[in-house]
Amino acid sequence: MAKLSDRRIEQLALAAVDACGRAYAPYSRFEVGAAILLEDGQVIAGCNVENASYGLSLCAERSAAAAAVAAGHRKWRGVAIASVGGVPPCGACRQFLAEFGLDVPIILVNLIDGARKVCHLSDLLPSSFGPDDLPEEA
Ligand code: THU
Repeated sequence: MAKLSDRRIEQLALAAVDACGRAYAPYSRFEVGAAILLEDGQVIAGCNVENASYGLSLCAERSAAAAAVAAGHRKWRGVAIASVGGVPPCGACRQFLAEFGLDVPIILVNLIDGARKVCHLSDLLPSSFGPDDLPEEA
């Protein structure tokens, strides 16, 4: 299992908290920030972005993941998610993140008490379906 140093966990947690401050969540009022640590030490962040057409709302994790991929980074060392309660990613986001590696530490940051909980995507999404399950292209 990949492990992150305490310094890296702190760096990533702070970036997720910072991104949470940019969340656009006027409908649910549940703000979420996510930050992804790239292989080169850079951090790319995202936040939830809601929409008046509620079903179009985008979670923070997918917003960060899309930004990382769009910037050319598909290998990640860790993901931090900040919210009130330090909630784990929703099912859709687990699947979305798993595309880019199951052995990725996930840091859940609780904005209420500052607690950080570290788990792995493979624990959050056991028996997962992923790219390796598809037949090879001819
Ligand atoms: N949300 C996230 O950003 N990430 C999750 O994993 C769970 C839910 C957002 C979506 C919506 O904007 C708000 O939280 C309430 O569901």
